[in-house]
Amino acid sequence: MTERYGAAGLAAAQPGPSRGAAALPRHVAIIMDGNGRWAEARGLPRLEGHRRGVEALRATLRAARDIGIEIVTVYSFSSENWSRPATEVSGLMGLLKRFIRNDLAELHEAGVRVRIAGDRDSLSRDIRSLLVEAEALTAGNRGQTLIVAFNYGSRQEIAEAARTLAMEVAAGTRDPASITPEAISARLSTAGIPDPDLVIRTSGEMRLSNFLLWQSAYAELVFQPVLWPDYGREALLEALAEYARRERRFGGVAAVVAGA
Ligand code: IPE
Ligand code: IPE
Ligand code: MG
Repeated sequence: MTERYGAAGLAAAQPGPSRGAAALPRHVAIIMDGNGRWAEARGLPRLEGHRRGVEALRATLRAARDIGIEIVTVYSFSSENWSRPATEVSGLMGLLKRFIRNDLAELHEAGVRVRIAGDRDSLSRDIRSLLVEAEALTAGNRGQTLIVAFNYGSRQEIAEAARTLAMEVAAGTRDPASITPEAISARLSTAGIPDPDLVIRTSGEMRLSNFLLWQSAYAELVFQPVLWPDYGREALLEALAEYARRERRFGGVAAVVAGA
């Protein structure tokens, strides 16, 4: 019998080799890439691509809720994106603010719990308070979890976890032998969230760009050529169909036909 990888099935603490046409990932993480190229191809400023990217995000999140994806993580600004021109950076900050102001009510209404991953210290005070507001308002929601990775860098996150653990060892409150993969996972911004099953990157680039490096150890990677502003329900369904065709082994062997 084919093991079903439905939202409930994947809750099992120990994932095993599995495949299944009915497979639905529990946690989908998306690298929303290609806004700049979308705009440039139309002779528009890059920021217009980012604006259209927010609309695509809205449509994609609605579709993910309809489909029943339990957790969605979106990469909206990387630690390395500060190296872009100042006007683009401030445009992106403005879009984040507008997204939270305009969409928080709808997300809350839909029962979405919002979490933010990334370094907040270098963000402006008004953004920091909006992030706190979004998390506080939706903390009790039990529908979908939306993690917005903003000013996020996976290496920085892992280094931060290592630093915290090292300080505990130095203070004598932790035994170095207790530094296990689980102890590190529990110090990341995704603590308590199951690892992504599926990581999608749009725009045809095939790299992770410092996104969820630890958490994606066994994620299925799907790269789609579509530029992010053109993303939505249809493209998400294609990625999910591709995921359902994959066979996840987690280091084991293929699920074999009985008697083989
Ligand atoms: C993704 O689109 C959005 C962010 C990185 C903030 P890009 O702005 O990277 O678009 P391209 O890759 O230049 O087309
Ligand atoms: C990754 O895209 C970051 C986000 C999508 C937010 P980039 O466009 O910044 O990545 P690189 O520079 O092409 O690797
Ligand atoms: Mg890019």
